[in-house]
Amino acid sequence: MRLLGLGSNWSVAGRVVLVTGASSGIGAGVVRDLVGRGGTVVAVARRAELLEDLVTSTRGGPGRVEAHACDLTRADDVDRLVTNVRDSVGRVDVLVNNAGRSIRRSIAVSHDRAHDFERTMAINYLGAVRLTLGLVPTMLAQGEGHVVNVVTAGVQLRSPLFSAYIASKSALDAFGRIMAREMRDQGVTVTNVRLPLVRTDMIAPTDEFATAPALSVDQAAERVRRAIECRPIAVNELHATAFELLSVLAPGLADRMSHWASRGLTESRAAMRRG
Ligand SMILES: NC(=O)c1ccc[n+]([C@@H]2O[C@H](COP(=O)([O-])OP(=O)(O)OC[C@H]3O[C@@H](n4cnc5c(N)ncnc54)[C@H](OP(=O)(O)O)[C@@H]3O)[C@@H](O)[C@H]2O)c1
Repeated sequence: MRLLGLGSNWSVAGRVVLVTGASSGIGAGVVRDLVGRGGTVVAVARRAELLEDLVTSTRGGPGRVEAHACDLTRADDVDRLVTNVRDSVGRVDVLVNNAGRSIRRSIAVSHDRAHDFERTMAINYLGAVRLTLGLVPTMLAQGEGHVVNVVTAGVQLRSPLFSAYIASKSALDAFGRIMAREMRDQGVTVTNVRLPLVRTDMIAPTDEFATAPALSVDQAAERVRRAIECRPIAVNELHATAFELLSVLAPGLADRMSHWASRGLTESRAAMRRG
């Protein structure tokens, strides 16, 4: 089992899990799921009022939610979060790096939009890395810890129109894998969850996604929980892994197929508004 990258079944009951991006979508779904299983969940995002709604709606257990408002793109905010969490709950058994933003815009219309690349990196990569670095000393001192990076099947598919988003998620995917290799003997593990499309606010600005097949928030939250319980190296979509394999074996064919599949796609409404 270890060779396949699968660990044993681990229970969240009585454990502390920090979930970023907990105010909406997948993150909020993960919080509700883990609290229902007896976990203590540290819920992190900028919108404090939505985090408080989670605290209220999950009161009565079996687990509990502690809300910590934080802008993960601000180094001082992240440092404060790490200190506050250490003071309030003491330990963090699992970190779920879920906060993120997506941008769908082709490179051809991005000549004056370097900030798209900076802001996706700021939250999807640097924010997650900074928080991970802040919590690693505690995990190493505990002799155990697990990090779940919520990334995207796009890191395998390399889909056109998503260069800023997928490059930032690929950076986090690579960081996580290297961290796991470095800490293999120290009890700290990492799973990259490469999700397909999930029906949340994030995909709403893209008209084509309105009718595309997508997971529900509950289905996505279940994948994240399984990543916590079983600690595989990655949670992949079969079609994305097959395409990644094709990209290695026949890269020219993979490029042609990806180009062909994206020909009918349009810029998102935000991109057309130059938002
Ligand atoms: N939906 C999909 O199809 C899909 C597919 C694959 C992967 N994912 C990934 O899943 C994760 C969750 O996305 P979602 O679909 O659930 O979208 P969502 O509802 O828009 O959630 C994004 C979350 O990130 C938080 N966030 C954004 N910027 C932040 C910042 N600077 N500091 C702290 N928190 C911040 C938001 O909270 P505040 O605004 O309150 O700060 C929000 O809770 C993302 O990493 C996304 O890339 C989504």
